[in-house]
Amino acid sequence: MLHLVDSAASPAVSQTDEETHRLAHVRRYEILDTPPEVAFDRITAMAADLFDAPIAIISFLDRDRLWFKSHHGLDETEVRWGQGTALSTMQTMIRSEFGPGFFASAPLTTHGGHDLGTLCVIDHEPRQADEQQLRHLATLAALVVDRLELRLTARRAAARAEILASEIDHRAMNSLQLIASLLHLQSRAVQAPETSQQLTIAANRVLAVARVHRNFSADETAERVPILAYLRRLCGELADSLAIEIHVEGSESSVPTKQILAIGLVVNELTTNAKKHGAEPIKVTFKQGTPGHYELCVLDEGKGLPEGFTLDEEREGAGLGIKVVKALVAQLEGHLLATANPAGRGACFTVIFPYETVEADAIARLQG
Ligand SMILES: Nc1ncnc2c1ncn2[C@@H]1O[C@H](COP(=O)(O)OP(=O)(O)O)[C@@H](O)[C@H]1O
Ligand SMILES: [Mg+2]
Repeated sequence: MLHLVDSAASPAVSQTDEETHRLAHVRRYEILDTPPEVAFDRITAMAADLFDAPIAIISFLDRDRLWFKSHHGLDETEVRWGQGTALSTMQTMIRSEFGPGFFASAPLTTHGGHDLGTLCVIDHEPRQADEQQLRHLATLAALVVDRLELRLTARRAAARAEILASEIDHRAMNSLQLIASLLHLQSRAVQAPETSQQLTIAANRVLAVARVHRNFSADETAERVPILAYLRRLCGELADSLAIEIHVEGSESSVPTKQILAIGLVVNELTTNAKKHGAEPIKVTFKQGTPGHYELCVLDEGKGLPEGFTLDEEREGAGLGIKVVKALVAQLEGHLLATANPAGRGACFTVIFPYETVEADAIARLQG
């Protein structure tokens, strides 16, 4: 069993510039305290096998500890001590843990020449290692470093992609706001009140797209979005801009990001209608409905739908709102229902749409 190094007995070496520099390099790889990774575990397993030894460790030297990224044949995940110490001293310390046993190690030296830690093999029984084994151990250590460099490159690429995506989002948002402002200007410039009103409505729809987009691009770059949290943010903003109260209820689900724009725009149209034709309080609910389907409702407590109202009706002079909603619902491959609010007063618009088709197919395949 490995006894952790007694800090009192450890050599207290002051932190030199060189040590600070080396630590900065270890940190740069963002490897410390990360979960185990198969790639590294394979390398320690192979190193142990190479020497027919029970223990192999990939360790990184932190300021006050030696942290193990992979620890084949050993439960411990680190060795701590009081203060910073040179890598060579640390190796001596590890070796001293095992008395006259067997210890072979190869440094983890970066392409830039910085030592980050070691790949070592340990046995309680003394024995000799031959030249070839040591050469292979050095190659395995080089593979560990290659893996670290790849990891770093991938992380940087991901970070750059994220910055780029948010920059593009930002520009798209600014463009939408600009288009909305231009439409508002145009609405003020025309004489005919009807045309002016239509242009204002168009400007507001453009702003709605920006709002719907902004509320999920802010912090979710993932494939799926927690829908209730999203609807709460969106409706919070809608409530402010329409000067109404909107309650959001239901059960949380993660919905594919590509469906969010349609859902957000539907909510925008229906809550705008609920304010225009209905009355507060307005409620938006989202839940899992019939098996394989989501159910989104917008309810108000106004005067209710007009006599003989149907969604199919192509009435003369009817607004564009319901048409827009129907087009968005078709995009979700769902259907739209308009009923009286089951709570008693007002209207209820319900959108029922299936879980993303790809996902449903995958589930169907798994089931049978
Ligand atoms: N929440 C609601 N309460 C009562 N009637 C509604 C509600 N939402 C829509 N309607 C009815 O449906 C019609 C069509 O709505 P819409 O297409 O958005 O056009 P608009 O809002 O411009 O009138 C409305 O004119 C109204 O009669
Ligand atoms: Mg409308």
